[in-house]
Amino acid sequence: MSNTIAVVGLSWGDEGKGKFIDYLAQKADIVVRYNGGNNAGHTIQANGVKYKFKLMPSGAPREKEGVIANGCVIDPKVLLEEIENLKNLNKKINLKLSSTAHVVFPFHRILDGLEEKTKGNYAAGTTKRGIGPTYSDKAARWGLRIFDLINPELLKPKLEKLYKIKKDLINVYDPNWDTDLDAIYEEYKSYGERLKSYVIDTAYYLNNVIDSGKKVLFEAAQGSLLGIDHGYYPFGTSSNSNALGISAGTGIPPKKIGKIIGMVKAYTSRVGQGNFPTELSNQTAEKIREQGHEYGTVTGRPRRVGWLDLFNIKYGIMINGIEEIIVTLLDALEGINPLKICTGYELNGEVLESWPIQSEIIENCTPIYKNLEGWSEKTREEWSDIAKNGYKALPETMKIYLQTIKNELNNNIVMISIGPNREETIELEDVRF
Ligand code: GDP
Ligand code: IMO
Ligand code: MG
Repeated sequence: MSNTIAVVGLSWGDEGKGKFIDYLAQKADIVVRYNGGNNAGHTIQANGVKYKFKLMPSGAPREKEGVIANGCVIDPKVLLEEIENLKNLNKKINLKLSSTAHVVFPFHRILDGLEEKTKGNYAAGTTKRGIGPTYSDKAARWGLRIFDLINPELLKPKLEKLYKIKKDLINVYDPNWDTDLDAIYEEYKSYGERLKSYVIDTAYYLNNVIDSGKKVLFEAAQGSLLGIDHGYYPFGTSSNSNALGISAGTGIPPKKIGKIIGMVKAYTSRVGQGNFPTELSNQTAEKIREQGHEYGTVTGRPRRVGWLDLFNIKYGIMINGIEEIIVTLLDALEGINPLKICTGYELNGEVLESWPIQSEIIENCTPIYKNLEGWSEKTREEWSDIAKNGYKALPETMKIYLQTIKNELNNNIVMISIGPNREETIELEDVRF
């Protein structure tokens, strides 16, 4: 038994992490975001309200304490907007923000767009929120941190220096580009004033609360295949979006991380570029996209969809050490027959033993599929009734689909989801801290 649980996505993001962080938050004291920035979009539907969080930890609808840890990059304007939105819903804000998280500035967003154009075929199709350039500055060690943001005497000289470097760089792409640095300073100084009361050293805080027995839930942003070190490079994001990022992104030693639960969507989706071996581009794709409302939470882009790829998910199972999974969006596959699940890849007539992490190899691979029988379309009321009646009420073909996932991944399925609402959830096992 441990008093921490982490929830990570095993694919390319949007697996339903927000829904399940909210679900599990009923048993937790604190929810911690440890990576990424406002490239994330985590949706929760509860009591008739739809929340879309980019930075706020997803325990907020239940007024659970949220911690945004050092591994995140913060666009302060976006965070303040999310705080205001929650206040307007009469939600109590209980937030702690790490003094060592890095700050996203407007020139990071500009550079994000310019770099993407230059990358051509290797562009990831980023959210253009300045995530990559902010993490680049962190690694180059001239980035500004939240501590700088809330101390104007540090903010001014550090921002001037960074601005000069960034302006020179932007001018390589766009020689006439300039902006009003004083205006950025004044704007960011005021963000710092408004955020100051939330800022602490979150590493000390989290270690202390975990040692005192509080139940802590770690919320990943993005999915494992988008991770900077173990993802689909260069088509991913700039942080460790898997469980390996938790320690570096929070200051919690690995031995204090208990259970790690992996999120699997019933099919595969992808926003952005990069080869996608099981991608569909026909009417089935459109049907899945419409039934699963597969449009990006952050950018509104239609998400690419395809058959469930368990071969790449197995890589995520390995690096995250997953023994328990949650399967989501099963209802979105209604009315499709047959269904296919990819269990491996073939390259030049040979069946591969392990997922080839190099994008240049993956693009030459052919998926190997198992065909399965689908289930019929149902009304929302029917799906809700099935959720109320539990596993036994599921269509028999869906049980076989789930059994196939379980066997291929050699994992326990602890929960499943057949709708976006909190209640459209079936617990197969009691997930405990
Ligand atoms: P996250 O980034 O992993 O938190 O996922 P997103 O919120 O970006 O995308 C998941 C989408 O699917 C959201 O719109 C959720 O409301 C929705 N969703 C989650 N689980 C289910 C489910 O079982 N069925 C359906 N139809 N929608 C779901
Ligand atoms: P959540 O947390 C899906 C994708 C972008 C792009 C690549 C790099 O909601 O699962 P970035 O802006 O991070 O530099 O973009 O990563 N991407 C996501 N795709 N869900 C996300 O987050 C994503 N965050 C980034 O589309 O391909
Ligand atoms: Mg999302």
